[in-house]
Amino acid sequence: MKNSSTTSGPKKVTTKVIAAMKKDRTRIACLTAYDYITARLLDQSGIDLILVGDSLGMVFQGQETTLPVTLDEMIYHAKTVVRGVDRAMVIIDMPFMSYQANDEEGFRNAGRVMKETGAGGVKLEGGERTANLVHMMMRAGIPVMGHLGLTPQSIHQFGGFTPRGATPGEAKQLLKDAKILEEAGAFGVVLEKIPSELAVKVTKSLKIPTIGIGAGMHCDGQILVVSDMLGLYEDFHPRFVRYYAHLAETIRQSVGGYVKDVKEEKFPTQKESY
Ligand code: KIV
Repeated sequence: MKNSSTTSGPKKVTTKVIAAMKKDRTRIACLTAYDYITARLLDQSGIDLILVGDSLGMVFQGQETTLPVTLDEMIYHAKTVVRGVDRAMVIIDMPFMSYQANDEEGFRNAGRVMKETGAGGVKLEGGERTANLVHMMMRAGIPVMGHLGLTPQSIHQFGGFTPRGATPGEAKQLLKDAKILEEAGAFGVVLEKIPSELAVKVTKSLKIPTIGIGAGMHCDGQILVVSDMLGLYEDFHPRFVRYYAHLAETIRQSVGGYVKDVKEEKFPTQKESY
C-alpha cells in the first residue's frame, strides 16, 4: 500500500483523480476546513480533499450538535474555503433538513451549493433512503459523497456518539447501504465510527473509495476534523483523533504574552511604531 503524498500529482484533484487513487492504492488524505486561511494552509500542505463539514456547528459555532447549521451558513463557509484552494477537491456537507424532507428540495439545495460556492461536490448522510437523490444529483453532474455509520444528523435517533455497525444486523445494513450508494452514483463514502473489520469488508466490496473516521486503517482514505487534529477544540477527545499539534495551548500562551506586554507597556516599541 502506497502512502505517498500526492502533491506532485495532477494540479487539481477531481472525482477522476480520487477514483484513480483507489485503483492505484494511494491513500486519500482529507480534512475539514471552515475558513479561507485554514483551507489555504491545508491545500499548501498537500491535502487531497477538503470537506466543509457541518461539524462547523460544533467546533466553529459552539453548538452541541450539527443540527442547527443552516444551508446559508454552509454556503457562506464554503465560499471562503473555495477561495483558499488551488489543488484539493472541496466537498460541502448538506446540512440537516436541507435534503431530508423530499428529493426535489434536496436536489435544488445541492444545485444552490454548487452554483453559489464553486465547490466540487456535496456530501450527505444516509444510505438507502438517499439513493434516489444521489442518483438525481449524479445525473445532473453533481458529484456526491455518502456518509454511513455514525451520522451526526441522526444523533437524537441513535441516542449518543457510540460506534455504529457493531451488531450483525447493523453491519449487514451498512454494507447494503454502501453498495446502494455506489450503484446510485456516489463517488465515495465516508465511514464514521464503525468497527475496522466492517470497514475492511465495505472497502473491499466497493469500487468507489471509502474515507474513514474512526473506522480503522484499511479505508482508502482518512478524514479528521481539522480543529480536533490541530488540538484547537478541547471539548471532546475521541479515541480516533490523533493530535498533530496543540494549538489551543499555543494560542493561550501567545495571547497571554501579548496581554502581558500590553499591560507592561512593552508593546509596541519605537521600531513597531510610525
Ligand atoms: O461534518 C463533518 O466534519 C464530517 C466529517 C466528520 C466526516 O462529516
